[in-house]
Amino acid sequence: MSLLRVENLSKEFGGVHAVEGLNYEIQPGAVHSIIGPNGAGKTTLLNMLTGVYIPSDGRIIFEEHDLTGLAPFEYAAHGIARTFQNLQVFFNMSALENVMVGRYLHERCGLASALLRFPRLARAERACRDEAAELMRYVGLQDYLSTASTAMPYGALKRLEIARALATQPRLILLDEPAAGLNPTEALDLDVLIGRLTERGITVVLVEHNMRLVMGVSDHILVLDYGRKLAEGAAAAVRNDPRVIEAYLGSSVASDGAAASAGSAASAASAASAASGGGQADLRGTSH
Ligand SMILES: Nc1ncnc2c1ncn2[C@@H]1O[C@H](COP(=O)(O)OP(=O)(O)OP(=O)(O)O)[C@@H](O)[C@H]1O
Ligand SMILES: [Mg+2]
Repeated sequence: MSLLRVENLSKEFGGVHAVEGLNYEIQPGAVHSIIGPNGAGKTTLLNMLTGVYIPSDGRIIFEEHDLTGLAPFEYAAHGIARTFQNLQVFFNMSALENVMVGRYLHERCGLASALLRFPRLARAERACRDEAAELMRYVGLQDYLSTASTAMPYGALKRLEIARALATQPRLILLDEPAAGLNPTEALDLDVLIGRLTERGITVVLVEHNMRLVMGVSDHILVLDYGRKLAEGAAAAVRNDPRVIEAYLGSSVASDGAAASAGSAASAASAASAASGGGQADLRGTSH
């Protein structure tokens, strides 16, 4: 049984079909990547899967609950967490407090405890701090435990968002371009972290232009183009799919036999990386 499924999911913005008629399933325990050219609808899909956007049509079913139309906090309460393509860090808080915000979803760690120093509440807040610190260590941020978020480098802030998402104790985590803006070493390290998330029993959805990362970690890949499903399946099948190569490179290149045969994932990925402005992946490394 799937963990999440969407049925005929659509989102329209004043005539722009950002996502159109999408049917898609996410299996528990697996790493699912969603790829596609800029503007393909990837972030829009994630926004619908977290209640940020209400679908124009279709349904979102998570663990057999129909979540369509619910608010973001209700998606979080059901066990879906996310990170953002554009960082959403609270820069007036320390790194640790940013992670604690995620914990506040759970009752025993209420915001009131920070204001009212009743012993029980103070204990709850200490536990909340300890758990947040543990999560920071888990994502590799042990050096930033007493750092102001404003003093953290970009790569660390991206991990901080993952720690905050984990603090909500999700069963499904959606990562929107976690490798964007990272240097090649930081980007490669992400596959270790993603592997650790799945070991923890968390299902991962990865939206990413870094094809080396995608091809390395994914059990399943969904390719979107102009809001529609272009292809889906195992990494090896998707990266050699002529439709996928065409979506990234354009029909003139895809119809060129030489480019198509030599290209596969490397070509598609190279184009994707260039389009994202990232350039952080040496994409010839994807075809191993
Ligand atoms: N709030 C919005 N209002 C109007 N149009 C929107 C809105 N959000 C997204 N769109 C449009 O929907 C389409 C899909 O955008 P989306 O951000 O989902 O693409 P994406 O696949 O995440 O692209 P990228 O790889 O560049 O992040 C684009 O045409 C975009 O301009
Ligand atoms: Mg996006």
